[in-house]
Order: sequence, then structure tokens, then C-alpha cells
Amino acid sequence: MNTPLENPPGGTGDHDGKVVLVAGGGRGMGSAVVEAFALRGARVVVADANRLSSSYNHYRSTDVGGFDAAEELAARLRDKGFDVTAAEADAAREESVRALFATVGERYGRLDTVVNAFGVTHVCPVERMELDEFTRVVEGNLNGVFLMSKHALGLLRADGGGSIVNFSSVSGRSGFAKVAHYCAAKFGVIGFTAALALEEARNGVRVNAVCPGIVRTNMWNYLLEEFTRPGETEDECWERMRMMIPQREFQRPEDIAELVLYLASARRVTGQAVSVDGGMSAP
Ligand SMILES: NC(=O)c1ccc[n+]([C@@H]2O[C@H](COP(=O)([O-])OP(=O)(O)OC[C@H]3O[C@@H](n4cnc5c(N)ncnc54)[C@H](O)[C@@H]3O)[C@@H](O)[C@H]2O)c1
Repeated sequence: MNTPLENPPGGTGDHDGKVVLVAGGGRGMGSAVVEAFALRGARVVVADANRLSSSYNHYRSTDVGGFDAAEELAARLRDKGFDVTAAEADAAREESVRALFATVGERYGRLDTVVNAFGVTHVCPVERMELDEFTRVVEGNLNGVFLMSKHALGLLRADGGGSIVNFSSVSGRSGFAKVAHYCAAKFGVIGFTAALALEEARNGVRVNAVCPGIVRTNMWNYLLEEFTRPGETEDECWERMRMMIPQREFQRPEDIAELVLYLASARRVTGQAVSVDGGMSAP
């Protein structure tokens, strides 16, 4: 894969010395965001969880190994001279989130950007969906954004302001069959982002959302298994997904990281949800 470390998107060191917390940064798009900020001189905390409270997720397990991945990523980047540390935290559990911000406050005494890059998906038609499945998927995508944002505000405001970037989705722009709980949560992330941006506009805290389209991470490995039709090969299914994209190209983690970098430093942009989806959600 072409990582941002090998091919950095445009821009220079506007994040020099800044403290950036990336929740869900151990793998997938979050890890590309970690690398992009590190490359621009930020001190980065990669938070991720080894264990989640439900198995209604694309790892099909409560043991997801995210903190192990975060530690490996942080060690690899430290070896290259970047200032990156890993922290174990479940963004959907308030006591875990409180402890995470206490650690960041003690270690750095400031915080400039929080990126909420965690999330879980799960496939099930509404007719067969249990309330627990609905609740857990909403919790894993939306409650965590609320908790991480709420507990970030004190540190973000303390040093004159900062920025929160939340991960929504193309599924926060349009409905997709068999992921109604995920769509409800991702539409919710956009509403939450807009409302918090208005609350915080005069406190110097900006809040925006990114809406990726189809990025081939662990999440899509699971979705592909679920969406492959009888008699269809994996390659044929990928091709069917690719044909849903007007540009006919999947997005890459570094495409999303580039937008996150921009939103983290764009001083007049707040309350927005911006898509990187090859035109999938064009009105
Ligand atoms: N992959 C896509 O095509 C796609 C498209 C649109 C939106 N998204 C969204 O992008 C974000 C990143 O997804 P990805 O594709 O990189 O998935 P991924 O599984 O590769 O990475 C997600 C990371 O978040 C961590 N995580 C999950 N729940 C957590 C929690 N409660 N606390 C802390 N860490 C947690 C996981 O351990 C994992 O390391 C998610 O919000 C996802 O919904 C993905």
C-alpha cells in the first residue's frame, strides 16, 4: 500500500509540536491519519482497544486487537524518529475515555486535535435485527464520538482552541440496505458534529466530519464477505462495488488522511461534513 509516509499529501509543518489524539488509530484509516500527522511534526497519541464490549462488529469478536496494532504502529514510527505513543482506550466506555484524557493532560498539558477514527460495522436486515444489535452498533459509532468530544473540550479550549474531526461515512449521506443501524449512527455523527460546532464556535473549538466512500480496510474485508452473492467470486464482488463509484476507483486511507489534515488546520471551517467518495454522494 502507498502509505502517507512514502507519499505525503501536500502541506508542510503546520502541525509542528502540536498534540494530536487519534482514537481508533491502530489500523485502517486511523493509522494513515497517525502517519500523516507524525510526518508533519505533530506529537501523536494513538488510542485503540484490544477488547470491545460487543461482538457486533466487523471483527466478529470482542477481542479485536486494536491496542496491539497501535503499539506496533507507534514503535515503527518511533524507530523512524517520530513522536508517537500508544494508549489503550475504548472510546465507547466513559471511564476509559476519562482516563485517556487524564493521561494526555498529564503527559502533554495541551491538546490541539482529536480525530475520532474508530467505528464498527455489522450486516443484518432490520426484520431480523435484535435491539441489542442496533444499540451496540450505534454505541460503537456514535456514543464514542459523543464521549470523546465531551471529554476533549476542556483540554482543547485550555490552549486557545483546537479541532475535532469525526469519522462519518457515505452511509451518513445515503441509506444502504442491511446496515440500517450503521447508517443511523453515521447520519447521527453528522448531526452531532454540526450541533457541537455551533456550541463551540466562540470557544475556538472547531468540529468537522469526514465521510469516506469505500476504502479497502478490515471493515471492507468483512463487508465483502457479507455482500458476495451466491456464485459470485470475491473479485467480481469488488468489481460490482467499484461500479458503484462514479470515479470507478476505491478511496485510499491516505486520501482521507489528507482531508483530516486540512480540517485540523482550516481555521474558518467548522460544522461541516466533507465526503471523499469518488462522487458516490454527489447530490
Ligand atoms: N472502510 C470504509 O470503506 C469506510 C467507509 C466509510 C466510513 N468508514 C469509517 O471509517 C472509520 C475507520 O474505519 P476503517 O475502515 O479504518 O476500520 P478498521 O477496522 O480498519 O479501523 C478501525 C479501528 O478502530 C478501532 N476501534 C473500534 N472501536 C473502537 C472503540 N470503541 N474504541 C477504540 N478503538 C476502536 C479498531 O480496533 C480499529 O483499529 C470508521 O468510523 C468507519 O465506520 C469506513
